[in-house]
Amino acid sequence: MVKVEQMIFNAIPSGMPVPGETLKKVERELDLDAPLDDGAVLLKALTLSWDPYLRGRMRDESKESYVPAFKLGEVIANFGVGEVVQSANSTFQQGQKLYGSLDFATYQVLPKDRADSLVALDNKEGLPWTTWVGSAGMPGQTAWWAVEKVAKLSKDDTVFVSGASGPVGQVTLALAKKIGAKTIASAGSPEKVDFLRDTYGVDRAFNYKTEDANQVLAQWAKDTGKPFNVYVDNVAGPQLEAALENIARGGTIVAIGAVTDYNGSPYGIRNVFQVVAKELRWEVRRSPASLPSLALTYGHAPAPQGFIILNHLTPEVLNEFYTEIPPAIASGSIPVKEHIFKGLDNGESFLTLFDQKNSNFGKAVISLE
Ligand SMILES: NC(=O)c1ccc[n+]([C@@H]2O[C@H](COP(=O)([O-])OP(=O)(O)OC[C@H]3O[C@@H](n4cnc5c(N)ncnc54)[C@H](OP(=O)(O)O)[C@@H]3O)[C@@H](O)[C@H]2O)c1
Repeated sequence: MVKVEQMIFNAIPSGMPVPGETLKKVERELDLDAPLDDGAVLLKALTLSWDPYLRGRMRDESKESYVPAFKLGEVIANFGVGEVVQSANSTFQQGQKLYGSLDFATYQVLPKDRADSLVALDNKEGLPWTTWVGSAGMPGQTAWWAVEKVAKLSKDDTVFVSGASGPVGQVTLALAKKIGAKTIASAGSPEKVDFLRDTYGVDRAFNYKTEDANQVLAQWAKDTGKPFNVYVDNVAGPQLEAALENIARGGTIVAIGAVTDYNGSPYGIRNVFQVVAKELRWEVRRSPASLPSLALTYGHAPAPQGFIILNHLTPEVLNEFYTEIPPAIASGSIPVKEHIFKGLDNGESFLTLFDQKNSNFGKAVISLE
């Protein structure tokens, strides 16, 4: 028997999650030598990812969304990497490192259906395991998809990226620089702004808390004679309004996330008429086929597009991503900054994604190594 730490979804937050109340660490016992059901694996978790979208899973189960709600009283789950301690699954052997949806638990037995969804990482690039849930994982896939498949960024573009110091922002900026596009980026502290400028060569980095995004974007157009024409939107809220106001006619908005709205009622964008005036097309696709698509179409310009990355990750897409991105991280051409929290807590580390206190800096990830 070993003592296993788990993180439980204990109560539905209203507003910000409350450490120890909404998420809670508990201890259970697990017999590591107990025989496994056919197809199951016993894993030791090495790393677990904190992603902003998890806030949306902490809701009443009756509310529909694009991801299932967590069940009250049960262990939460998200992307992670675990080492196989014992396997009754013919695909996996002891010692392999598996990536996919793991429980927030130091040790865990995953039944066949969940084990079958995991992939073995050979990690020939020698990246830290934490990076496989960040820039080389789901957030990196999101940025790569946004830059290369949705915006199809070119050297003639100027891209504005909000929420830029996190993993989606980091990979977006690194790819944009590689392509030769000009970059404008925002984050919430002077240190983060310096980091964006010094690490990714951002042409105009600013702190959205102390500088008005509207003014920064307007000034950019005055100084360069050309407004930015692509907006990679991680936050929505006032920065989306500023982007709508200042984006070039026919520009592209890649709608990735809305951190501003995750813990309260939606901000409400007040200048949506710019979509008409600038002949933008605004399309939100939740899934390629199975779910209905919602499309508001104005004009004929390139499409601003929302997407959920998990609906696009075919084996071919993943193969393309893994061929390009992890080697680029290993070579240093995509610099990575992670904020590593050691061990499971009562959800304090999750709160850093939203508390606006600059208590995280870089991809938020839990290390259990
Ligand atoms: N569509 C998809 O498939 C998909 C996939 C992955 C991620 N996403 C979304 O992409 C976005 C970025 O993800 P990430 O993993 O890179 O996140 P992240 O940067 O690690 O997210 C947390 C950061 O958001 C910023 N933030 C928090 N509250 C804010 C507010 N009210 N206004 C402005 N900024 C605020 C904070 O940075 P500052 O210090 O700079 O404020 C915080 O550190 C999120 O919206 C996420 O949900 C979408």
